[in-house]
Amino acid sequence: MKPANPVRVLFVCLGNICRSPAAEGAFLHLLESENLIDRFIVDSCGTAGYHVGELSNVTTRKVAKENGIELVHRARKFEGVRDFDTFDYLLVMDQSNYQDVVSHARNDADKAKVFLFRDYESDFKNSRGKGVSVPDPYYGGINEFREVQDIVMRTSRGFLNYLKLTKAL
Ligand code: 4NP
Repeated sequence: MKPANPVRVLFVCLGNICRSPAAEGAFLHLLESENLIDRFIVDSCGTAGYHVGELSNVTTRKVAKENGIELVHRARKFEGVRDFDTFDYLLVMDQSNYQDVVSHARNDADKAKVFLFRDYESDFKNSRGKGVSVPDPYYGGINEFREVQDIVMRTSRGFLNYLKLTKAL
């Protein structure tokens, strides 16, 4: 059973088949390894609906698997107000996702839930507020997908470290 107050995290990219499901999978994997999975609700989505219902990109799944991570997520579209009400952190992959998501915010409280995921990379104090994106690998080769995988694993660690400091996990 989930505790009364889980931390609710939504990863957001454009298509929800490359970057955000890779981030979701990496973060879930980390939570499992730290026995923290019951403290969280984690999901991902895309600002566009091109791939709704699909499994993640075949190369995204391949490089996740190289790292011991099985991706089973099916793509879904960002649901605006409903997702603002469901989640505490909306972690977007790039500036364009940021603009799309924030355009659905009803107020400053909604807006304050939206962060660039890479603000939390490694030592989050160093990257915070610098506006660094997770590069879109969709038109790239396996090296671009591996780079994304490395980024999302590193940044998941940074985000969890941040939560440990601020949420007494
Ligand atoms: P993602 O990558 O936003 O990381 O899932 C993309 C997936 C699909 C498309 C673009 C980017 N697309 O144009 O279909």
